Amino acid sequence: MEFRVTDTPRSVWTGDALVIGLFEDEVELTGDLAQLDEKLTGTLKELIEEVDFKGKAGSSAITRVGGSSPIRKIAIAGLGKAEDLKLDTLRQAAGICAKLARKEKCKTLGISFPMWKKDADATVAAIVEGAELALHQDSRFKSEPDEQSTQIQEIELLGFAGSESAIARARQITAGVILARELVAAPANYVTPITMAETAQSLAAECGLEIEILEQEDCEKLGMGAFLGVAKASDLPPKFIHMTYKPAGVPRRKLAIVGKGLTFDSGGLNIKGAGSGIEMMKVDMGGAAATFGAAKAIGHIKPDVEVHFISAVTENMISGHAMHPGDILTASNGKTIEINNTDAEGRLTLADALVFADKLGLDAIVDLATLTGACVIALGDDIAGLWSSEDSVAAQLTAASELAGEKFWRMPMEEKYFEGLKALHADLKNTGPRPGGSITAALFLKQFVKDTAWAHMDIAGPVWTDKENGYNGPGATGFGVRTLVHWALSKA
Ligand code: BES
Ligand code: MN
Ligand code: ZN
Repeated sequence: MEFRVTDTPRSVWTGDALVIGLFEDEVELTGDLAQLDEKLTGTLKELIEEVDFKGKAGSSAITRVGGSSPIRKIAIAGLGKAEDLKLDTLRQAAGICAKLARKEKCKTLGISFPMWKKDADATVAAIVEGAELALHQDSRFKSEPDEQSTQIQEIELLGFAGSESAIARARQITAGVILARELVAAPANYVTPITMAETAQSLAAECGLEIEILEQEDCEKLGMGAFLGVAKASDLPPKFIHMTYKPAGVPRRKLAIVGKGLTFDSGGLNIKGAGSGIEMMKVDMGGAAATFGAAKAIGHIKPDVEVHFISAVTENMISGHAMHPGDILTASNGKTIEINNTDAEGRLTLADALVFADKLGLDAIVDLATLTGACVIALGDDIAGLWSSEDSVAAQLTAASELAGEKFWRMPMEEKYFEGLKALHADLKNTGPRPGGSITAALFLKQFVKDTAWAHMDIAGPVWTDKENGYNGPGATGFGVRTLVHWALSKA
């Protein structure tokens, strides 16, 4: 598929389908739209009336144009109120229209959307991302690919000549999102600690990243007892993956992205029961997947910041050498942890990964993790939790997430709740009481970062969606990649 920007007026554009973006309560056809409708012998006006189109965000309609028209189909996409226009409204609308056009067997698509905040490049990037992510299909595990006779070959963005570079940038980002989606979607018998290490190796080769993979013995030497305590039960070797992107000159900032990388989470001896969603626990490496996706995008974009991509990858299994509930583990910073629940394993793997990142002497660390069901209860499926005791880092990430169209909600780092993690014989327990479970999880992680500004993102909700909406779903979303890339690129 190809994207192009052009200044061809919409009244003279030719191709299979033309999509017009319309604001709420502004669906009267004036100016060049009236001209276009004249050429279409009133089809546009008819369509608007027929479906009672009001321009509501997320609404769309398409119809055939008769006669010898230069376009075969005309589509309309609602963009909501003009004054509320968000970049993500355009991303969503582009996704909806791209899927609609494919269903209608169009090969060439023209999109005429308004500009967001006089920022042509951001507008183009959002439209390209929405279309590309919406059209991504994953039939790797089907013996025959899904029935899809026609694929869109060309999408033209009308009114945006000059923003060619924004197309390239958006596609570097979507390539990262798609990598993350495919890693999350692939089940645990395909994505293992070993294949994650292989993926990292080829990613590093592709993008010119430095790579270091610590094997079990290396992790033992570093005293990573928390990570290895989880890994012990698995028949597969743990892999501690560390990739580094270094810019050509002196880096403006040095950052680390740390992702939870549980290729499967059975719960361990506190095994997940019926109705727990155990069959979905292939998603438990969604943090690592976002980390890899960001590495791919950043490795191609090549900004002037140094970025470390880190994941302690293993699975949480049961076997004769599984850790017992009640065991006491020692993390690489010397802290002792009483395991009162083996299903709170992500924070154990992250503990050693955060200690490792903290020792690198960087400006900021952000971790992403499908960490708690409690966060899903608090914020639902679409919104990730964000914790940081550093307001500046929280602000940077919030700004990045707005450009990215990924929703985060800042949650309290309520130190008082640390009471719930106090243990009788060890420095801390790995789980606190059920209320506020996502907050105590964040407080647990905080014990393993001493010297670096740090933020934590709980992505257990948005890592996956059962619904089809806009450019996502159903399936893995690749959540986090776009926010991470915008964060790394931001001039903070
Ligand atoms: N991987 C899960 C969290 C999760 C839940 C991910 C839903 C994706 C979707 C995590 O390891 C876990 O099991 N958390 C427990 C913690 C509890 C034992 C304190 C939970 O949330 O129930
Ligand atoms: Mn678990
Ligand atoms: Zn888990």
